[in-house]
Amino acid sequence: MKQKIIELEGKALAEIESLVDEASLEQLRVSYLGKKGSLTSLLRSIAEVPAEQRPELGQLVNKAKENITRSFSDKKNLLSALKSRQGVSLDITLPGREQVLGTLHPITRITGEICGIFSRMGFKVVTGPEVELDYYNFEALNIPKDHPARDMQDTFYVSEGIVLRTHTSPMQVRVMESQPPPVSVIAPGKVYRRDSDVTHTPMFNQVEGLLVDRDVSLGDLKGTLTSFVHQMFGPDIELRFRPSFFPFTEPSAEVDIRCVMCKGRGCRTCSHTGWLEILGSGMVDPAVYGFVGYDPEVYSGFAFGMGVERIAMLLYGIEDIQMFYRNDIRFLGQF
Ligand code: FA5
Ligand code: MG
Repeated sequence: MKQKIIELEGKALAEIESLVDEASLEQLRVSYLGKKGSLTSLLRSIAEVPAEQRPELGQLVNKAKENITRSFSDKKNLLSALKSRQGVSLDITLPGREQVLGTLHPITRITGEICGIFSRMGFKVVTGPEVELDYYNFEALNIPKDHPARDMQDTFYVSEGIVLRTHTSPMQVRVMESQPPPVSVIAPGKVYRRDSDVTHTPMFNQVEGLLVDRDVSLGDLKGTLTSFVHQMFGPDIELRFRPSFFPFTEPSAEVDIRCVMCKGRGCRTCSHTGWLEILGSGMVDPAVYGFVGYDPEVYSGFAFGMGVERIAMLLYGIEDIQMFYRNDIRFLGQF
């Protein structure tokens, strides 16, 4: 009898566990706990055993009934919870939603690469304001008011004496003003000019570089920038230093690289010259040292400023600079 009770309980619990719909669960419940159910009849048959065995067997069978009843109601709750959730919209067999990973904007990536190359050469990264005093953007860079050089860069004026910086060169002055030599810094950031076509946007990014110490020569400038261009565009790229003019450097040179689109044969991108300008540079003009209190008899240095969009266009073969700022995620996600 004892054995029978234990077996019945085990069988009932296993069967309840294996069922997955409410109708067959109810059928099963009746077959155990209904009027003619197997547990019910087992309970009745207790009356027929000898009186001294009854209390023990009675207790055992009641315990089994309790367990089976609880198991039924737990399973019933579970099945009805699952059913009502399916009714709403949860289909647990549907594949999950893919999480779309963002990507860095190509200009952010290239800026990071440029800064990485110069950091490894020992330059320190610094940043400064985009809304800038006329003094830093022009005056202290040896570009006085009414100087024709101001026409080189069409300026957005914020108010009298305050501009949106037209280049990152004001950072040269800010850095030298704040510390004695030697300095070696690069300053990435946004700049603004009234300018807009396929190679110009009103806002673009530059990375400025400045190195001042004793005995810095034009050879150091050439070596540093040649190394940079080779790291950025590969060791086979051809480059040239073309004499140029900036009021804050003397002598000045612009760096051109062989057109990456046509390999120098001449095309629309390079205006059929075979060369593309990527940066301006030169030896810091002694006049600038005058504004920051450096002694030009003791110190010399070089500076450079490059257009990040220009470099990104050449690296990726993009012909329209405006593509960077149309917010087309299909374009921006490619890099
Ligand atoms: C300057 O801005 C100087 N401050 C560079 C410099 C720094 C010279 C330190 C000497 C010493 P420039 O106007 O040429 O120079 O601009 C530098 C680079 O910015 C250009 O070579 C070009 O790559 C990029 N650039 C200029 N105008 C635009 C524009 N509107 N849109 C996109 N890129 C531009
Ligand atoms: Mg230029």
